[in-house]
Amino acid sequence: MKKPQRIYRASFLSPLGILLLAPFLSLPAQAGPYMDSAHGGFDSDPGVNRSDLALANYAQGNCAHCHEQHASIDGAEPEPSSGDYSAAPFALFADNFNTGATTNLYDQGDNFCFFCHTNVASLQSNGIDNKDYAATFAGYPTSSPLGIFEAFNQYSYHNLADIWDFSKDNFTFFTSSSNPCTGCHNPHLARRNKENQKDPSFTAISRPSDHGNLWGNDAAERMDAASSNKYLAPYYYNSANSYEPDATNLDDGSLTPDYNAFCTDCHNLTNTIYSTTLGRNLYKFSWSDLGGDTIAAGDKHGANSATGTSERINPYGADNGWILSCLDCHEPHGSPNAFLLRREVNGSEISANLRTKAATGTSNMKLLCAKCHIQNNVDDPDDEDWEWIHHNSPDAIYDQFKCGTCHGMGGFAIPCEDCHAHGKSVTFIDDPSIIRRTF
Ligand code: HEC
Ligand code: HEC
Ligand code: HEC
Ligand code: HEC
Ligand code: HEC
Ligand code: HEC
Ligand code: HEC
Ligand code: HEC
Repeated sequence: MKKPQRIYRASFLSPLGILLLAPFLSLPAQAGPYMDSAHGGFDSDPGVNRSDLALANYAQGNCAHCHEQHASIDGAEPEPSSGDYSAAPFALFADNFNTGATTNLYDQGDNFCFFCHTNVASLQSNGIDNKDYAATFAGYPTSSPLGIFEAFNQYSYHNLADIWDFSKDNFTFFTSSSNPCTGCHNPHLARRNKENQKDPSFTAISRPSDHGNLWGNDAAERMDAASSNKYLAPYYYNSANSYEPDATNLDDGSLTPDYNAFCTDCHNLTNTIYSTTLGRNLYKFSWSDLGGDTIAAGDKHGANSATGTSERINPYGADNGWILSCLDCHEPHGSPNAFLLRREVNGSEISANLRTKAATGTSNMKLLCAKCHIQNNVDDPDDEDWEWIHHNSPDAIYDQFKCGTCHGMGGFAIPCEDCHAHGKSVTFIDDPSIIRRTF
């Protein structure tokens, strides 16, 4: 949301800074809070600071560390040099985005932001350390990617060309020269949540439908204000009494931006989104609709309430009526698992990389479900994994002897994601009016 406009410090604007602004005519509405942003780097924050000698006279935080008038500084072209002094869009020091990069692995030159946000060969003096969500906000210490460039070069990732393609057709601020990262971030506003994990006024994100403002910095933009169903923060790594985002004992979501509203600017019932990785359009689903066990209802991990009686692992317990956050299960940038799924969920690690049937012929998605759902009959632990819920539990609503409802003509081991995926439901084989929403 908006902050009161701050007067620009005269000493901060170098002649180059002013020249830079000229082609854009008006100072962007968000230029005031720039000084509070991670890139503006005022006070104790690091701020943009390219190490190239040609930039030695420019203070940390100066626009010139990203924007080069005439594609050069004092007649020389600092790193990265295109050799021909050609001007990049928005007078940036390099091309904003290479639309020809339709899949990963990405090169550093494919995206302007990768020149600094990488663990190797960063142009930012002293480098930048950006870990993934599981590491920064859940404290999972092992094997995080150490830069954003590295995060996008994992097994699954938010495909940048698909985001670019979708955003230019759907958001007015986004032009064909825009950078897909700006679908989710405003480089003139983004702040250092990673250093202030429990203070979302330091949020790093802007909704694509409200690009001129930060998202999460106001109290009404946090997970506790999100829905009629209650949010409960997952356990912090290796703890059974402290919670995300910073091992606090406050579990109500008031310390976390409302990621659901953020992600559903794009992922909702209306938008058709093509995924190059999956080779199809994404499933459409609603995270906010209610409706119980009907085809048109919303997801039960969203605002729609669970209808069964199965117990869940703490902190969720036996009660129904919870809403989860997208980032309880997903990473925003990329992951060694399929579908950007986190490496650690609800306090413990997922023991093997998650793969779906489509990728390997087999599936181990149940390792994710086991972080929050009880898989065995607690009174008879010898019961086979996951069979009990579907065959014998009080929650097994379908006639157990109508095997075809679930096993169909396939084998007995059935990939969970055949039935448990966003937007899915299962219909009783003998009576199509008996429907169960299964995600
Ligand atoms: C000239 C180097 C440079 C470039 C180019 C750059 N950044 Fe940054 N960025 C920084 C620095 C420095 C920080 C603060 C680093 C820190 O917090 O350790 C930062 C911080 C951020 C943050 C806040 C989280 C954090 O790490 O503190 C976000 C979000 C961000 N950048 C996004 C972007 C996006 C998106 C782009 C491309 C549009 C971009 N950056 C390009 C240098 C850069
Ligand atoms: C689909 C939305 C989305 C896209 C696209 C996206 N980000 Fe992010 N990014 C997020 C969210 C949500 C967070 C906050 C959670 C976190 O820090 O992991 C974040 C956090 C960050 C941070 C702070 C990480 C930290 O240390 O906590 C940086 C830096 C960043 N993004 C840079 C980028 C860059 C660079 C790109 C493009 C290459 C990009 N992002 C693309 C959603 C996105
Ligand atoms: C971290 C790098 C970075 C810094 C620092 C930075 N910008 Fe930008 N700026 C960008 C990027 C990237 C774009 C292109 C946005 C897009 O892809 O849609 C941009 C676009 C702009 C635009 C075009 C309108 C818009 O907002 O998209 C203006 C005006 C602008 N910058 C002014 C400034 C000024 C003035 C400063 C210093 C006060 C500054 N920028 C600092 C990265 C930066
Ligand atoms: C309980 C964990 C969980 C939560 C919470 C969750 N997801 Fe997912 N998500 C999954 C799993 C598992 C898959 C893989 C199965 C599938 O494709 O739906 C997935 C897949 C996806 C896909 C790919 C769908 C496709 O076409 O295959 C998208 C997009 C997605 N999630 C977005 C979101 C968004 C946005 C939110 C929040 C509104 C969210 N997810 C919340 C677990 C979760
Ligand atoms: C981060 C924790 C978490 C993860 C991971 C998770 N769930 Fe859930 N699940 C919940 C919670 C909490 C509810 C109850 C939601 C409510 O109260 O509305 C729920 C509800 C459900 C329901 C609805 C049950 C009913 O009684 O109507 C199904 C089905 C389900 N989950 C299946 C799965 C499957 C399959 C997976 C793995 C792909 C999975 N869940 C992963 C936490 C999780
Ligand atoms: C600016 C629009 C936009 C926003 C905001 C956005 N996404 Fe996406 N998302 C996309 C597009 C486009 C795709 C298809 C490309 C792809 O599969 O990577 C996608 C794909 C996905 C996939 C499937 C990726 C795969 O390869 O299996 C998941 C999971 C996902 N998004 C989760 C999220 C989550 C979680 C958030 C919020 C943190 C979010 N998205 C926010 C545009 C967006
Ligand atoms: C409500 C859905 C449902 C119904 C009805 C159902 N099952 Fe299952 N069954 C499952 C699920 C889910 C699993 C666990 C699959 C897995 O782990 O891959 C399972 C597991 C099994 C397994 C063990 C498979 C293995 O490799 O571990 C057998 C055997 C089996 N079912 C037989 C049957 C028979 C025979 C019937 C009818 C008398 C039946 N099931 C009815 C859902 C169902
Ligand atoms: C063929 C469809 C189908 C498949 C495949 C399937 N399930 Fe289910 N699952 C259901 C149905 C239907 C329910 C609703 C309750 C019932 O009838 O057992 C359910 C219920 C659940 C629940 C109950 C959640 C709650 O809180 O009530 C969990 C957890 C679950 N399944 C996990 C899994 C896991 C893990 C796998 C993979 C090993 C799996 N399921 C495979 C159809 C399926």
